[in-house]
Amino acid sequence: MNILSAFYRSSVGKKIIVAITGIILILFVIGHLLGNLQIFIGPDWVNGYSQHLHDLGPLLWLIRLFLLATVIIHIYLTIQLAIENRRARPEPYMDKRYVKATFASRHMVMSGLIVLAFIAYHLAHFTFRKTDPRFALLKPDPLGHYDVYSMMVYGFQNYFVSGFYVLGLFLLALHLSHGSSSFFQSLGLNDKKMTPRLAVGARVFAWLLFVGYTSIPVAILLGLIKPSQQL
Ligand code: HEM
Repeated sequence: MNILSAFYRSSVGKKIIVAITGIILILFVIGHLLGNLQIFIGPDWVNGYSQHLHDLGPLLWLIRLFLLATVIIHIYLTIQLAIENRRARPEPYMDKRYVKATFASRHMVMSGLIVLAFIAYHLAHFTFRKTDPRFALLKPDPLGHYDVYSMMVYGFQNYFVSGFYVLGLFLLALHLSHGSSSFFQSLGLNDKKMTPRLAVGARVFAWLLFVGYTSIPVAILLGLIKPSQQL
């Protein structure tokens, strides 16, 4: 027990927990993107996928609670680490040229908190469907599933909604582009040759996620995807 609490209290221990919770969240973000991209294959796919998720019943709630706990631990510990860092060096650096620190690394807490606001809006929008009264008027699709496909199309046809998503996704990508390279350092992988390569890999990965996610509102605004039912 003592070893566990010492691990938690040490900043290396915290960094490892941040890395593990971060990787769980990244796996979710990849899985969620693959699920959402089915909108390009057709309504049956994305509606069927959503139905499968809802059919999980209590297990879905367990997964949701697990994800929520993961996000809370990730945020709580990163903020604590940021405070500890500031305490360790109360005076700001004289030379602000930030030789090594990138924009993304200097704004991890800010981008993380805006992403959190984005997720809160996103859940109200698509999971609890409280922001758009039209979503309640959607009829089930021919297979009897809730028409998530048309819900996404009607949702993203609004420029402000799509704009806010693109902003949230941009900050998520910024956050991940730094976060995933710190992940390797937290796990002790700090090599002269490998570290810069892993950092580039992390950046490419984060921006691929950005392109994948934003392709959905962009395709809808361009009129490439139309609702499968009229309201
Ligand atoms: C264009 C981007 C996105 C689209 C089109 C999208 C779409 C959706 C849809 C349709 C749902 C509801 C699923 C259902 O109830 O059947 C959902 C739920 C959710 N989304 Fe997204 N999403 C996007 C981006 C994101 C991002 C970037 C995150 C996280 C950083 C995220 C996190 C979640 C979470 C946590 C849920 C709740 C899952 C549940 O418990 O049902 N989404 N999303």
